[in-house]
Amino acid sequence: MRHLMSPLDFSVEELDTLLDLAQDIEAHPAKYAHACEGKKLATLFYEPSTRTRLSHEAAMLNLGGSIMGFSSADSSSAAKGESVSDTIRTISCYADICAMRHPKEGAPMVACQHSSIPVINAGDGGHQHPTQTLTDLLTIRNLKGRLGNMTIGLCGDLKFGRTVHSLINALVRYEGIRFILISPEELRLPEYIRHDVLDRKGIPYEEVVRLEDAMPTLDILYMTRVQKERFFNEEDYVRMKDFYILDKKKMKLAPEDMYVLHPLPRVNEISVEVDDDPRAAYFRQVQYGVYVRMALILTLLDIHVD
Ligand code: NCD
Repeated sequence: MRHLMSPLDFSVEELDTLLDLAQDIEAHPAKYAHACEGKKLATLFYEPSTRTRLSHEAAMLNLGGSIMGFSSADSSSAAKGESVSDTIRTISCYADICAMRHPKEGAPMVACQHSSIPVINAGDGGHQHPTQTLTDLLTIRNLKGRLGNMTIGLCGDLKFGRTVHSLINALVRYEGIRFILISPEELRLPEYIRHDVLDRKGIPYEEVVRLEDAMPTLDILYMTRVQKERFFNEEDYVRMKDFYILDKKKMKLAPEDMYVLHPLPRVNEISVEVDDDPRAAYFRQVQYGVYVRMALILTLLDIHVD
């Protein structure tokens, strides 16, 4: 049985196959409409979510399966003190596959050790968010026609942003990737990723504070929200929250074929005036998130459609 804890759980070849499947699903949705009939997905969300929970649910519904779950810790027995391992043993009796989001790093890993159904990590604290990475890879591949040979700007909260951590881990496996890490000093990419992933693999990267300096050289600009819920005090968050605001003026500095991605939710870091720019791809990214999760559910359940 397979789980998805980190994007590295799939080899590059397996990822290619999964992204190809997502593309086929986009082109021929009717072919997949009954693939998961009789199967159930449970969504176990101990932290707020709009897209990640609902896109997993939409994915299972599009495949003809059914869904169940909880959307906050308060409405589950976690509020009574139940452990993740007991909860997952229970869910294994009800569902065929589950997606779990938890504020504690490693909680989905604990779950998969006690589970008899595939577990998908739907975000664990400031650690990883592999299904967002699958979404980002599919989006980049569809927009640019490739996953290697490009300069990716990662901007905002690189310290706590789990989507950034997972995306870096996934992208360093492709040829010719270069990063520009754009953040305030206090929200720099953690040392364990800079050293253990980027330096160790000899991936070229630069750290800059000003977004304007990076814009002209980018193929992809990946914007992120300052992760309010991971700050220890409100004051630091307030000081950091509007550090970057991408607006029309800054977009003028970017190449014609640079795309803006954002895992969403956005707060102030992308002005709504950018939404009409053809290079703003964050809502297209949301749509890709459904196709890729359909492909993921089929892959983990080992269901093949001819
Ligand atoms: C992200 C997350 O939860 O990490 N959201 C998402 O799943 N699309 C990004 C964020 O909350 O800032």
